[in-house]
Amino acid sequence: MSTWVIALVTIVAATIVYKLLKLISGPSLPLPPGPRPWPIIGNLPHMGPMPHHGLATMALKYGPLMHLRLGFVDVIVAASASVAEQFLKVHDANFSSRPPNAGAKYMAYSYQDLVFAPYGPQWRLRRKLSSVHMFSGKALEDFTHLRQEEVGRLTSNLASSRSKAVSLGQVVNVCTTNALTRVMIGRRVFNDGNDGFDPKADEFKAMVVELMVLAGALNIGDFIPALEWLDIQGVQGKMKTLHKKFDAFLTNIIEEHKNSKIEKHQDMLSTMLSLKDGPEDGGRLTDIEIKALLLNMFAAGTDTSSSTTEWAISELIKNPNILTKLQEELDSVVGRDRLVTEADLAKLPYLDAVVKETFRLHPSTPLSLPRIASESCEVFGYHIPKGSTLLVNVWAIARDPKEWNNPLEFKPERFLPGGEKANVDIKGNDFEVIPFGAGRRICAGLTLGLRIVQLLTATLAHAFDWELENGLNPKKLNMDEAYGLTLQRAVPLSVHPRPRLSPKAYSS
Ligand code: HEM
Repeated sequence: MSTWVIALVTIVAATIVYKLLKLISGPSLPLPPGPRPWPIIGNLPHMGPMPHHGLATMALKYGPLMHLRLGFVDVIVAASASVAEQFLKVHDANFSSRPPNAGAKYMAYSYQDLVFAPYGPQWRLRRKLSSVHMFSGKALEDFTHLRQEEVGRLTSNLASSRSKAVSLGQVVNVCTTNALTRVMIGRRVFNDGNDGFDPKADEFKAMVVELMVLAGALNIGDFIPALEWLDIQGVQGKMKTLHKKFDAFLTNIIEEHKNSKIEKHQDMLSTMLSLKDGPEDGGRLTDIEIKALLLNMFAAGTDTSSSTTEWAISELIKNPNILTKLQEELDSVVGRDRLVTEADLAKLPYLDAVVKETFRLHPSTPLSLPRIASESCEVFGYHIPKGSTLLVNVWAIARDPKEWNNPLEFKPERFLPGGEKANVDIKGNDFEVIPFGAGRRICAGLTLGLRIVQLLTATLAHAFDWELENGLNPKKLNMDEAYGLTLQRAVPLSVHPRPRLSPKAYSS
């Protein structure tokens, strides 16, 4: 037999064996489309300074289900409602843990918290604890008066700050933090100070914002593990320094709580401390876990709510017709002699629509929090490799022109009867607007976050007319974003609040 024939037979035989093997192992699916990666660093250079913007632009070219390679990590990006639904509903069980990252290791007590804990019994215990004490229907009702008191205090301070412009985000942050800590640890942590504001509070907000910026940074060591020890960008070093500050702050809170004279605490920290000696299998909590949980609540629960409120008031200032319409609703339901209460909220459909529209355009975690694929799976005919990081571009989904008419316009009416999204809610069931995520790892503090943003937005819109610092024209208000893990305004909102209710409303 000639050499040619032998070669031909070999090729045919090899092809048949290959086809047979493929038939046995099943068809191999392609990865979702995406930009071609560079050697070693992969697509890291494609992400840009604002990854939610960069990824949204890429999705225009490659579609709403994308594959990227960041260093040595497969990253899957969901950028439409139907793709997000696949991951957070159909395949949610497979995506119920978070990928390893330096933030969890160096700032969240090495995964001993709730936000980054792997899905499992420890995560369940921590989630249940926070839910029972802070977010359940009963906990929410029990602590209504605390939130109202804090919002009332903020309102009187604002009413007396006539000549000086106020940095709204800062003062609202004092309010959200104190409202939260009164439930968490039984007391306020910041004073109102001489001018109504505590310098310690500014420092604390700066710490939370820094934590979000560091957690949102694309840390090379997370994607190229061999380079972790080098800490090329210095991110890990900054995380360790910040962690020391937070740890001292939290240790101090726990010590003060233990030494407090108040006989019987009703707060979440008391329950957590009582679980320190609990049975090992029935939910014992260590000192570290307690601090990690407190840290989660401070980090996830304060700035998210205050920045969303700052965005809401910014939109209302920029859109005076909408502010007027909201004030008309508030005046007719609440009147002008008292402040809004939480009991009023259910009677304020226009407010509800304003808050939904704010969460749509300004979701406080634009790429949500990442998840990891525990096993490989198939989505819309594509192969999703085991161990891939999932990013859901919540920001881009809520601006998708296929879902929303004039998506960049602030138009609360779209959520009202007769509007394009009249029956859509923002609580993880309608995937075109999921500011709190969805599925098993949906935001644990959704009910509380939503309630406080509604109460604050309603109260600030009802109690004041707003003027921008230095008489700036509202149309010129800068609405640019600064990126961290959470979405801050690039230029903080600086305003003069002008009281519009009868004086007695501000002293209550
Ligand atoms: C404006 C308000 C808020 C927004 C937009 C928001 C958004 C989010 C998002 C997108 C996630 C990730 C969900 C996912 O993986 O699908 C999350 C998780 C979380 N949030 Fe929020 N959040 C807010 C307020 C709060 C508050 C007030 C608290 C607590 C006091 C809180 C505590 C948490 C915790 C503990 C997690 C982790 C849950 C887990 O991994 O099981 N959040 N949040």
